[in-house]
Amino acid sequence: MDDLVTLWPSAREASEAEDVPRRVMITGSEGYIGSVLVAKLLDGGFDVVGLDTGYYRAGWLYNDGKDRPRLLARDVRSLCAEDFEGIDAVVHLAELSNDPLGAHDVRNTYEINHRASVAIACNAKLSGVRRFVYTSSCSVYGAAGDDMVNEESTPRPQTAYARCKTLVERDLMRLADVDFSPTFLRNATAFGVSPRMRFDIVLNNLAGLAWTTRRIAMTSDGRPWRPIVHVEDICDAIQATLNAPRGAVAGEIFNVGTDSNNYRVSEIADAVAQVFPESEITFGDTAGDNRSYRVSFEKIRRHLPGFRCAWDVHRGARQLRALFEHVGLTEEMFLAPPYTRLRELRRLVESRQIDSDFRWRCHDFS
Ligand SMILES: NC(=O)c1ccc[n+]([C@@H]2O[C@H](COP(=O)([O-])OP(=O)(O)OC[C@H]3O[C@@H](n4cnc5c(N)ncnc54)[C@H](O)[C@@H]3O)[C@@H](O)[C@H]2O)c1
Repeated sequence: MDDLVTLWPSAREASEAEDVPRRVMITGSEGYIGSVLVAKLLDGGFDVVGLDTGYYRAGWLYNDGKDRPRLLARDVRSLCAEDFEGIDAVVHLAELSNDPLGAHDVRNTYEINHRASVAIACNAKLSGVRRFVYTSSCSVYGAAGDDMVNEESTPRPQTAYARCKTLVERDLMRLADVDFSPTFLRNATAFGVSPRMRFDIVLNNLAGLAWTTRRIAMTSDGRPWRPIVHVEDICDAIQATLNAPRGAVAGEIFNVGTDSNNYRVSEIADAVAQVFPESEITFGDTAGDNRSYRVSFEKIRRHLPGFRCAWDVHRGARQLRALFEHVGLTEEMFLAPPYTRLRELRRLVESRQIDSDFRWRCHDFS
């Protein structure tokens, strides 16, 4: 297997080969992961079409100077089979993207994250799309205690967000056949820089707090396990999935990360303190969040040998510090709504730019 995979061609070299996707649609292309992924896939020789409704477009923290693909400014709930004509593979990222968001609005979370995701896959399949990469999450493991969990373990989702991930996995698995190959990437919690930055994920949040307030303020007592993975490594896993022979990834679930990046939240805080030595660590309590999971990443290491995580918590914290110095990050910038997904959606509803279904209200000022 190792030898076989080392010989996998790049997308451009392999464009003639059967089943190697060339034209890829990325939903959620304007988000934290999507804006890094589009640049990487364009570089990798894919013909990329982005699709995103643009909830967080007000937040662009730095310019990466990268090319952008053609963008369809659409809501995933409005797509039909014709929208996928000519597309070889879909990478589906466009969802309400974390646990607090799901808890804030359960109805919209089920509509967008579960129902629309399944509808997109059905329409893509109808239209002849052969590969579908779904970005699931390790948060499906929920309250798993100290034991290592793997892809065979029973999911214990604790939130609407995580329950939707398991429902989409279940429903898409049923669509799998010789012509349609879904692959499920259960990503660890992401970290690292992206122009469409997020400060509501653990390492980015603690580093931002250290820089702007000199307090690395955990919301928990620090004991929960939280595997983390750099946004670039997530994008590499997606690219490796697209480049893999279809049979090697069809219907497969992969945890995305690496075993050595299973940290307790307190260890993440310690790593931040080393890079931001002028700050002090403070603890929260355990109430309200019982998620804790320690995850095995053995399967992706074995099946996608071309994929390796290049980032750990220490390198990640140093990269974040370099970003904060570069942009002169202030507390106001750190707290700006677009960088905390729930805050921005609330702002858009309160300012009546989106309605209670999270659909844009359109105005013509002419
Ligand atoms: N970031 C993480 O830590 C992490 C971890 C595991 C899994 N994931 C999954 O990866 C995916 C992307 O995460 P992210 O961190 O880039 O999130 P993000 O919130 O930064 O990006 C999501 C993008 O999807 C778009 N979107 C949301 N609803 C839409 C709709 N109805 N129609 C069209 N576009 C819509 C948003 O405008 C946004 O640009 C999500 O499915 C998330 O659950 C993320």
